[in-house]
Amino acid sequence: MPEKEVIRTLCQKAVDMRSESYAPYSDFLVGSAVLTDDGKIFTGCNIENSAFGPSICAERTAIAKAVSEGYRDFAAIAIAGGRRDGELQYCSPCGVCRQVMREFCKPSFKIYLAKSADDYKEFTLGDLLPESFGPDNLS
Ligand code: THU
Repeated sequence: MPEKEVIRTLCQKAVDMRSESYAPYSDFLVGSAVLTDDGKIFTGCNIENSAFGPSICAERTAIAKAVSEGYRDFAAIAIAGGRRDGELQYCSPCGVCRQVMREFCKPSFKIYLAKSADDYKEFTLGDLLPESFGPDNLS
């Protein structure tokens, strides 16, 4: 479990990353910040596309940045989402993002649905993706 101050930083970075969101179609801005086991943080935002299908969520952006930089072991992720002109929600990761987390993360991986540094709900990947299929099934 990350220390309280690290969780606050992670949640705040997720909130801040909403300013980078490219979401002209949904107007739903999402930021994320993923924490590696060795304490490094990678951030992401959702990036939409006029063809819709190629759009990518904030969580996968952050994880792809980390993996492409050689980091594959993760402790936690914070997600902050809400409509452009609305309040932040406790924005839960979509099914595709949960499955991408499953590829690299243990069931104990922490997921913070953040409205601010101090207002978040905490889950584990095991909570949000029970009875899942993962790399171990193919070994
Ligand atoms: N979105 C995310 O980036 N993460 C989530 O957890 C939920 C949804 C994005 C995808 C799309 O750009 C917009 O939010 C509306 O679905």
